[in-house]
Amino acid sequence: MALIEVEALSYSYPAGSEALHELSLSISAGSRVALVGPNGSGKSTLLRHLNGLLQPTHGRIRFRGEALRYDRLALRALRQQVGLIFQDPEDQLFAATVGEDIGFGPLNLGLAPSEVKRRIASAAAATDIVDLLDRPLHALSAGQKARAAVAGVLAMTPTVILADEPLASLDPPTQTRLLSLFDDLANNGCTILLATHDLEQAYSWADCVIALKEGRLLAQGSVYEVFGNAALLESCGWQQPWPLAIYLTMCLPGVPPRRRSELLAHIKSHLHGISHNDGTVRTAEA
Ligand SMILES: Nc1ncnc2c1ncn2[C@@H]1O[C@H](COP(=O)(O)OP(=O)(O)OP(=O)(O)O)[C@@H](O)[C@H]1O
Ligand SMILES: [Mg+2]
Repeated sequence: MALIEVEALSYSYPAGSEALHELSLSISAGSRVALVGPNGSGKSTLLRHLNGLLQPTHGRIRFRGEALRYDRLALRALRQQVGLIFQDPEDQLFAATVGEDIGFGPLNLGLAPSEVKRRIASAAAATDIVDLLDRPLHALSAGQKARAAVAGVLAMTPTVILADEPLASLDPPTQTRLLSLFDDLANNGCTILLATHDLEQAYSWADCVIALKEGRLLAQGSVYEVFGNAALLESCGWQQPWPLAIYLTMCLPGVPPRRRSELLAHIKSHLHGISHNDGTVRTAEA
């Protein structure tokens, strides 16, 4: 049974046109799902439905086989299990300091102060903001706010994490750390939906991909099914992730590489015997 099932979901914002149109998809427990699509394709609107922030105009959503309910108690129970990292941290962070913000959710669950403290420390360590816990939220950089937003969701120990472009303002090493944190969580049974515009990241990290366009489901499938479909990529003006593009262009043997290091190992073994340089770029002037 799918963990989350979306059935013919349509949604129109009160003051806007239709943002999602008869969207049907399913998400398995423990999967790493990349949610991709052009600006305005409905990624954030879909994620906001999955934790009950928005209610479908038509259609319905099932979580663990049960249709979502929208009364206060049901939403509270849902949000303990399904955490949303907002696209804009300003929509999520509201307490006076980073530590208070991270602890707000666990405190609200009625957990003992010692457990709240433990969760704040553990979420701050995972997102590398331990030294910022006493800092007022307004005195953070964009990337630090994004980390605090992630920490606030981690502190709730959800079983599903909806991450709405959490990588956008993070430096590359922090992006890598966050993806590997998501890997660890997924390996422990957590289900992760990651909205992103970075197709290389999506290709290297996800088990499967959901692609939206103009509020409709364009494709759902494995990374190979979606990123191997040239016509589909072209319809969105997307480039094929380069490890896959180079693998296909060179007609390399074996399973298509997902990461840069795998691609380079593939090419090296393919070129075995042909001399190659040591990875240093030498310009004509050098
Ligand atoms: N609060 C709102 N009121 C009215 N229309 C909205 C609102 N928020 C989003 N929309 C519209 O709904 C559609 C889907 O928007 P959404 O934010 O879900 O897209 P997205 O895929 O997350 O885009 P992005 O990549 O820019 O984050 C767009 O046409 C957008 O203009
Ligand atoms: Mg969005």
